[in-house]
Amino acid sequence: MCGIVGYFGKNEALPILIDGLKRLEYRGYDSSGVALLHQSKVLCFKAVGKIVELEKKISEDKSPHPPLLKHALDPEQGGAKIGIAHTRWATHGVPSEQNAHPHSDCSGKIWLVHNGIIENYQQIKKHLIEKGHIFKSETDTEALAHLIEDLYDGDLTEAVKKALKVITGTYGIVVFHADEPNKIIAAKKGSPLVVGLGENETIIASDVSAIMRYTKQAIYLDDGEMVEIDANGPRIFDSFNAEITKDISEIEWDINQAEKGGYPHFLIKEIFEQPETVMNSVRGRLVLEEGMAKLGGLDAVADKIRNIDRIIIVACGTARCAALVGEYMLEEYAGIPTEVDYAHEFRYKKQILNDKTAVIVMSQSGETADTLAAVKEAKEKGVLTLGIVNTVGSSIARETDAGIYNHVGPEISVASTKAFTSQISILSLLTLFMGRQRDMSLVTGQRIVNEIQALPDKIRKILEADGEIKKIAEKYSKATSFAFLGRKYNHPLAFEGAIKLKELSYIHAEGFAAGEMKHGPIAMIDENFPSFYFVPEDSVYEKNVSNMQEIKARAGKIIAVATEGDEKIKDIADDVIYIPKTLEMLTPILSAVPAQLFAYHMAVLKGLDVDKPRNLAKSVTVE
Ligand code: G6P
Repeated sequence: MCGIVGYFGKNEALPILIDGLKRLEYRGYDSSGVALLHQSKVLCFKAVGKIVELEKKISEDKSPHPPLLKHALDPEQGGAKIGIAHTRWATHGVPSEQNAHPHSDCSGKIWLVHNGIIENYQQIKKHLIEKGHIFKSETDTEALAHLIEDLYDGDLTEAVKKALKVITGTYGIVVFHADEPNKIIAAKKGSPLVVGLGENETIIASDVSAIMRYTKQAIYLDDGEMVEIDANGPRIFDSFNAEITKDISEIEWDINQAEKGGYPHFLIKEIFEQPETVMNSVRGRLVLEEGMAKLGGLDAVADKIRNIDRIIIVACGTARCAALVGEYMLEEYAGIPTEVDYAHEFRYKKQILNDKTAVIVMSQSGETADTLAAVKEAKEKGVLTLGIVNTVGSSIARETDAGIYNHVGPEISVASTKAFTSQISILSLLTLFMGRQRDMSLVTGQRIVNEIQALPDKIRKILEADGEIKKIAEKYSKATSFAFLGRKYNHPLAFEGAIKLKELSYIHAEGFAAGEMKHGPIAMIDENFPSFYFVPEDSVYEKNVSNMQEIKARAGKIIAVATEGDEKIKDIADDVIYIPKTLEMLTPILSAVPAQLFAYHMAVLKGLDVDKPRNLAKSVTVE
């Protein structure tokens, strides 16, 4: 969703801000803007649509700027060295230039970018309008710019502090004042901000992707903190206004991971990365001799985990589908009753929790607002919270008591692929860990370890069938509806397969537990309603075959994901995609890959924006 970049330093700010915005594009947005501060004057540009529109606005700018401001845009003159920029995903008011950030006050001197939602903005706005302020947008953010103006008494830091005491809701903000051209201010509550420490330059952003090209040294701000950035770098203050020293973290992600590397889209690159990303998720964490997983992030709470007798996994979207696979694993192999809750429902249910309950929170971004709210609720109730998160230093990673990182590098494409297979891989490690703490035998543990280690090569083998999968997609490209079906471990894959197809290709798709078909959905089946069926050779194979026969008897076409060597499935299915044999609990990691490739090719065939599907955001930071 919305993205923030701020710059204060020795270099020309504009290219760094625009590059930062492009790095944040994947989060989803519908308009963008930038404000440059140069010799106490401000230049602002905004555009609806993609960042290229903003770039066009800047390069085609014909406004009669005074010479000084012209210098702000002229690299030969050094350009402006201070600026703020933003990508907006509309919440309050339509996507338009008026509503795009940065927003300013009446004087046009205070400029602000904001992520999050100011809940009491209407009261503030009403009060300020009564005092004579004139608003130009429909946004909640503009109210904060005017509020700061109202409280300003010659010191921006003080005015921002006072304003933040008045507002309720969430914010990550970066703000400057034209009369104080030697500093910018940032503050955070409930919306991420990270400060990148370069050489004589400071870059502040809502996401490390916008920073890592310039520096690997970063400070993650915590809620309630404020930072004042000037030529000497950042000074950080806690919520009591005391200056504090914070740890500097090393950004581990590599810039190459955030680029396409020769692939036409991030999505296909990320699908093809899975042999490595699954390996990276389990690397150094498997101990064959002990049939055990070594999870450093859980060391501090290992004894508590030993006593856990109930697990609730909370997540949203694709992460929730992975969680459903975890439910089967943890119950079957660790013997712990496990349930999966939508993170956005968790708070609204009466939760019956005790000190033997663990809440596992799973999120690729670590910033999903619904999921973060569920962590806070669980902590409020005093239960153990464990995170499975990809983004190091993200809000969920920091809120949870302990956790396991995915280590799959940045996932840029909005549709989650490599994070999904990693999430299931991590859940298999957790199952080993908790299972071996309980009744799981050494031999079973070792068998799981061996099978996990063999997964990357098996994924590689499936990827070799990409050409065949593309042909299958061509064959079905005119279909307007699909059913995705599976049982037991592949039951959640039916949901995930359907999510992938609909979010990428906008084709109607529904996931069903295969056994449920005959209780209603089968009424929809005819020759124009194909099914994508996960039918590996597992303990429910025969039941699946019967259900497939029922579809075939009604002229329904079937694409089957089956186990290598299963020739007889060809008698029932119209098209078959093979996956190598593995342990039943690990089949979803393999069967996910054909479903991802199928959805990818369907979207490409329809000429859609694969990496940034309409209406979606990578990181949904509103509830
Ligand atoms: C958004 C994304 C999905 C993702 C979900 C949860 O809806 O578009 O791809 O699965 O959020 O994201 P998280 O970062 O919490 O895993």
